[in-house]
Amino acid sequence: MENTISSRGITLEARKPVFFDVLNNLWDSESNPGGIVNIGLAENALMQAEMKSFINTQPAVENHALTYGDGFTGSKKLKAAMCHFLNRHFQPYVPLQPSHVCITAGASNAIENCAWALCDPGDYVLVGRPYWTTFRSILGNRAGVNILEVTMGQVDPMGTDAVVCFEEVVEQATREGKKVKAILLCSPNNPLGRCYPKEVLKSYMQLCQKLGIHLISDELYGLSVWESPESDDSTPFTSVLSIDTNNLVDAQLVHAVWGMSKDFGATGLRIGVLISQSNPQFLGACESISLFSFPSSLADKAVASLLADDTFTDNFVATNRARLSESYQFVTGFCKTNGIPYAHSNAALFVWIKLGAIVKDTEMTDDVLLSRLRKEGVYMTSGSTYACEEPGWFRVVMAHPRHVLEEGLRRMMRALG
Ligand SMILES: Cc1ncc(COP(=O)(O)O)c(C=O)c1O
Repeated sequence: MENTISSRGITLEARKPVFFDVLNNLWDSESNPGGIVNIGLAENALMQAEMKSFINTQPAVENHALTYGDGFTGSKKLKAAMCHFLNRHFQPYVPLQPSHVCITAGASNAIENCAWALCDPGDYVLVGRPYWTTFRSILGNRAGVNILEVTMGQVDPMGTDAVVCFEEVVEQATREGKKVKAILLCSPNNPLGRCYPKEVLKSYMQLCQKLGIHLISDELYGLSVWESPESDDSTPFTSVLSIDTNNLVDAQLVHAVWGMSKDFGATGLRIGVLISQSNPQFLGACESISLFSFPSSLADKAVASLLADDTFTDNFVATNRARLSESYQFVTGFCKTNGIPYAHSNAALFVWIKLGAIVKDTEMTDDVLLSRLRKEGVYMTSGSTYACEEPGWFRVVMAHPRHVLEEGLRRMMRALG
């Protein structure tokens, strides 16, 4: 049969997410023991009981929830609660107020807003390797913005020398006639699970000022940072919002993204936030397209109550950190026992392991290993999903109850033979 859809539709169809088959056949020790253990998708299942019990005790909705509410960028109540919460946890240098934020349907939507309103189709956004390559779809699928990858070689991707690599890539791109509009950082980093030191963030700010481009900081895992027992020099999380931009960068160029998906283990709520404290024109542009993607009033209302409740959020954040730390120790302990090298980390939901290092068979490329993992019924992602420069790396999502991790890691070892 001939194509019945547009050429744009054909391009989109080819880029559809590849993990939905995993979701349709999820492992459960009792109801679906033959299903797939999902330790690939970045979800936090450690705090579901606490989250459910909060949401399920919310009072019934009122008429306001059945209307367009206060507009399409979040209710007044949610914006106030979001600012209250982030003022307590992200230590913004200039306290946040509701006019600085746009509530979005998840962090993806907040990042896409940057593509729509800071870039034109065909422009480029710089991202350092390794990175979460779904950024390509978020920026590119609808808004037509490209990613320009920064290769690091032997340079630490989270250190100051990496900033020099970014500058070199911009110089080369300019020579080739490419328009670079922004640097997109992910801190804590997906997949490395590390945070950028404050001094490095300042260097990126200075570079953005020099080049006249925007700095977008995706801080979606900002509160999922724990004490790492194995390294005392773990870098704590610093939000770009906490840095005094005077003498570093025009504050109009600095934007941050956060949301409920990871730190509150609630990808399904679809609540994100785009924060831009000195660029009302940018937020105005985002408001203009917000009709197409603003979150449901039910999610807005539940999250507004949750973020205003200091007792609940303080307990939640602390418990989440403690559980992540336990899971990290469990997975890294497993790696040590089995001789699997891993990169030390203190943030986010993953452990970055070098599975390739214990494979003896030279035929066993990352792709072959991935398909063997799938055959054994475990879903993990390999370095190619993160444009990793070195083969052999895999990402294990460790924010799962112990029995899920045990089953996933057991299957992983079986796949290795
Ligand atoms: C770094 C990063 N940013 C954004 C997202 C998307 O988050 P959301 O589900 O809130 O759209 C993810 C999800 O994995 C992520 O890892």
